[in-house]
Amino acid sequence: MRAMSADVKSLIQEGAELTDQALEALIPSIDTVPVSIHGAMRHSVFAGGKRLRPVLAMQAAVAIAGTLPAGIARLGAALEMLHTYSLIHDDLPALDNDDLRRGKPTCHVAFGEAIAILAGDALQTRAFEVLAGLDCPPAATVQIIALIANAVGTVDGMIGGQVLDLESEHQRPSPELVAAIHRAKTGALIRVSVVAGGVYAGAGAADVARLDIFGRKAGLAFQIVDDVLDMTVDSAQLGKTAGKDLATEKATWPAVYGIEQSLRDAETLVKEALAALEPYGSRAEGLKSVARYLVERKS
Ligand code: IPE
Ligand code: IPE
Ligand code: MG
Ligand code: MG
Ligand code: MG
Repeated sequence: MRAMSADVKSLIQEGAELTDQALEALIPSIDTVPVSIHGAMRHSVFAGGKRLRPVLAMQAAVAIAGTLPAGIARLGAALEMLHTYSLIHDDLPALDNDDLRRGKPTCHVAFGEAIAILAGDALQTRAFEVLAGLDCPPAATVQIIALIANAVGTVDGMIGGQVLDLESEHQRPSPELVAAIHRAKTGALIRVSVVAGGVYAGAGAADVARLDIFGRKAGLAFQIVDDVLDMTVDSAQLGKTAGKDLATEKATWPAVYGIEQSLRDAETLVKEALAALEPYGSRAEGLKSVARYLVERKS
């Protein structure tokens, strides 16, 4: 695996900064009543996530429009709110029962289980409120809301994937099962981040189809790498508890294929993802470099 190039590093950093500024403005301040929930939402949102879904949305928009469209950081912020909500709930005692996230105590450890559940709920509703006010044509706004709601839902979406993930613990997973889990619990939100960024920038049906293929493959590669990192990197570097998947006998890609084959599969998926962007030429360079980073990352 190569070291991260300076270019993709600054591209991710710039996207993350834009996202953080939008999140800062969009999430109620810490002294807004009721203060406990706003403290909890901010604790998890500003704990130090990589902001990869907003960055993917931004770079997909650049692939379509040639430049970063005004106001897209609010789309990125909404995606990050949904992602953070999924992490807060993923870490709850009833789900993965984790006490470390983004290098900080998990939301329920810091604020109690009730407030953590409500903080997740609140990030979800706030995300859709923000999406409803996006700065793009009304038809695109409605399309984005429908696509995102579907991607975090129960049928092949994030929640459905979380259900499958939990119900598949302590079993020997089949290739089909682990593919279905990964496509839904993680792949769907990554795919829709890319597609929504494109739609925000004016993508037509053919663009949406290409971005969907790219996002699908990159999203699966992302979760394969998450599974491998869980087995190969320590908690300090990950910012979350390492070795957790083996301990709970999760249905992971390495559990089916082993680490070496998993890494090869992630590389192959990213190559296939990049191929879907060929029609965009140099305008897709940013999106391609983020996709490469998804499999080269070490945390
Ligand atoms: C972690 O996602 C959870 C998964 C969906 C695998 P990230 O690795 O993007 O986590 P953050 O946002 O950087 O904390
Ligand atoms: C999380 O998958 C997927 C979602 C949060 C929807 P994991 O359970 O593998 O994520 P980590 O490893 O705890 O970040
Ligand atoms: Mg989980
Ligand atoms: Mg987890
Ligand atoms: Mg994981």
